[in-house]
Amino acid sequence: MKAVILVGGKGTRLRPLTLATPKPMVPLANKPFVAYVLEHLKSHGIEDIVFSMGYLPEGIKAYFGDGAAMGVNLTYVVEDSPLGTAGAVKNVEKYVRDGDFLVLNGDILTDLDVGALVAWHRERQAVGTIALTPVDDPTAYGLVRIGGEGEVLGFLEKPSWDQIDTNLINAGTYVLRSEVLEMIPAGVEYSFERGVFPRLVGKGLHGYRSDAYWLDIGTPEKYLQAHYDILERNVETSISECLDGDYVCVQGDIDLEIGAKLVPPVVIGAGTTIKAGARVGRMAVIGPGCTISSGCVVEESIVQEGVELAGDVRVRRSIIAGGARIGERTVITGGAIVGNDAAIAADNVLANKIRIYPGTEVKAGSIRF
Ligand code: GTP
Repeated sequence: MKAVILVGGKGTRLRPLTLATPKPMVPLANKPFVAYVLEHLKSHGIEDIVFSMGYLPEGIKAYFGDGAAMGVNLTYVVEDSPLGTAGAVKNVEKYVRDGDFLVLNGDILTDLDVGALVAWHRERQAVGTIALTPVDDPTAYGLVRIGGEGEVLGFLEKPSWDQIDTNLINAGTYVLRSEVLEMIPAGVEYSFERGVFPRLVGKGLHGYRSDAYWLDIGTPEKYLQAHYDILERNVETSISECLDGDYVCVQGDIDLEIGAKLVPPVVIGAGTTIKAGARVGRMAVIGPGCTISSGCVVEESIVQEGVELAGDVRVRRSIIAGGARIGERTVITGGAIVGNDAAIAADNVLANKIRIYPGTEVKAGSIRF
C-alpha cells in the first residue's frame, strides 16, 4: 500500500522554529520530526511513500533523498501554491491511483496500529476510513460521531458541552479508495475535513477508534510535550532503545566533565560539552555540538544543535533553536522560544512564552520579562 504524507503547511503556530526550517524537519530528540513518521510507516510494512510538499521543500529532499537509508522509497511532489489537504492529494493522484492508499498529516506523533486500521477499512469495504482518537476536552475540536459498525454519522465542529455525545476526533490518518480522488477538484484548494468527508457521510465513510498514543506537534506546548513523552517512553520510538535502562541516552561521543550532572530522563547529542557544575535534566534534550557551561541548569527543555550557554544560564520549560548563544546568568523560562542563531547577552530574563526571532541580538540586561 502507498502512503501520502502531507508536509506542505507553513507551521505558523510553531514560529519562529518554522521560519527557516519546515515543520517536518524541526528536530524531535535530535532527529527531524518526519523521520519518526517514516519509521512508523516502515514498521507497518509501508515503504512506498509520497511527500506532498509546498513550504521549504528543499531541506526535506536533501535530508531523505530517495529514502534508501531508511529502507523506504520516497517520491516528492511540490505544489506551486497551497492546495489544502485534499487538493494536495489530488495533486499526487498519479502515484496512488490503483486501489486503497493512506494519507497522513505530517505533524502527528503516534504509534497507531496502521495494519489494524487498514484491516478495519477492508472488512467494512469502506470508501474511506478515518482514524479517530479520544480527547479530554472535546469542545476545542471537530468531533466525529460514529454508529455501531463504525459508520460515520456526522461531524460536530467545536460543540458546547451540552451537545457532546462523543470525544472522538479526526486523528489525521486516513485510508481511502482511489474513487475518492474523483470527488476532489484539481488545481484548487480543497480540504478533506470540510470538503470530502462531509460529502461521504452515509456513503461508505467509516471511523476507526484507536487508543494508541497520539499527539499533534503543531504548537510549542505540544512540541515540548512530544519530547517529554519520548523521554518518559509514553510512546515507543527509535529513541526508546537508547533510553533503555537508565533513561540517559547519549547519541555519540560527548565531553562530560567531572562534576557535571545528568538527571534522567535526558538525551544528549554527539559532540556536546557539559562542564563541571552544570546540571542537565530531568526532561531535557540537548542537541549535538552544544556547550553547556558551569553553573547552568537545563530542565524540561529542548536545546537544539550547536547552542552555546555561558556560565550560570538557567533554562526551564523552554526551547532554544540551533546556533543560538546565551550570555551569562540569563534565565529562559515559561515557554520562551529563542530562534535560530539569536544572540542573547548576559543577565536577561526571557519568560511568558516570549518568542525571539532568528538572528536577533539582545543586549545585556535589556529584557526582564
Ligand atoms: P499551522 O500554520 O500552524 O496551522 O500549521 P500547518 O501549516 O502545518 O497546518 P495544519 O497543522 O492544519 O496542517 C496539517 C498537516 O497538513 C500538516 O502536516 C501540513 O504540513 C499539511 N498541510 C496543510 N495544508 C497543506 C497544503 O496546502 N498542502 C500540503 N501539501 N500539505 C498541507
